[in-house]
Amino acid sequence: MNLILLGPPGAGKGTQAKVLQESRGLKQLSTGDMLRTAIAAGSEIGLKAKVIMDRGDLVSDEVILDVVAERMGKPDIKAGVVFDGFPRTPAQAQALDKMLAARGQKVDAVIEMKVEDEVLISRISGRYTCAKCGKGYHDSFAKPARPGICDACGSTEFTRRADDNEKTVRDRLNVYNKQTAPLVSYYTSRGNLRSVDGMADINHVTDAIGHILDGVQR
Ligand code: AP5
Repeated sequence: MNLILLGPPGAGKGTQAKVLQESRGLKQLSTGDMLRTAIAAGSEIGLKAKVIMDRGDLVSDEVILDVVAERMGKPDIKAGVVFDGFPRTPAQAQALDKMLAARGQKVDAVIEMKVEDEVLISRISGRYTCAKCGKGYHDSFAKPARPGICDACGSTEFTRRADDNEKTVRDRLNVYNKQTAPLVSYYTSRGNLRSVDGMADINHVTDAIGHILDGVQR
C-alpha cells in the first residue's frame, strides 16, 4: 500500500508515519528527514537545502524528485510506503503518480490531517528532540520526567530544528496554503482523499487513520 499523509507543518504526519511503519510494515519516506540527513552530512544538496528550509520555503521540485526517486529504488520500499511531507506541489504529485505507475503501483490513499493554525504554531514552537536517540519532547505538553534528562536514553543533550520558531512556522504555513493545499482538490478529484481530525489526541488520530486504511481496497 502507498499512503500519503497530507497536512500542514505540525499536523502530526511524522508522528503517525512512525506508528504506521511499526504497525503496518510501511516504510516512512520523509523528505524533510532526508534533507536534514543531507544537511548533517554536509553534502551539496544539504548545503543548498539548508538555506531554503531555514526560511520556510520549499526546496525545488527537481531536487526533491531526485532524492525520492533514489529512495524508491531501494529494495526495502517494496512492501509499501507512507509518504510524510511529500508530495508538496502539484508537480511532485504528478511525478509520484508516474513513478508508481512505472512500478505497476498507485497512490492507494491520501489522508489529510486537519489542525487549526494556532495549535500548529504552539505544537511546533515548543518541539525539541533528544540529540542522541531522537525521542521527541515539547516545552509544555511533553516534558521529560526528570528535567533536562531524556526519558528513553538518559542523554542530557537536546536539539531544536532551525525552522521550528514562530516566525518560520508562520512562513511555512503560508507556503503550505499556497503551494501544497491545492493537492486536496488534486486527490479529491481522483477519489482517494479522506480527512481526519488532527486536533484529536495522538491515539485517536491513529485509530481514525487505521479505520480508513482497513477500508481501503488495494
Ligand atoms: P518537514 O520535515 O516535512 O516538516 P513539516 O511538513 O513542516 O512537518 P513537521 O515535521 O514540522 O510536522 P509533522 O506534520 O510531521 O508533525 P509532527 O508529527 O512532527 O519539512 C521541513 C522543510 O523541508 C520544509 O519546510 C521544506 O523546506 C523542506 N521540504 C521537505 N519536504 C519537501 C518537499 N516535498 N518539497 C519541497 N521542500 C520540502 O508533530 C509536531 C508536534 O506535535 C510534535 O511535538 C508532536 O509530538 C506533536 N503532535 C503530533 N500529533 C499530535 C496530536 N494529535 N496532539 C497533540 N500533539 C501532537
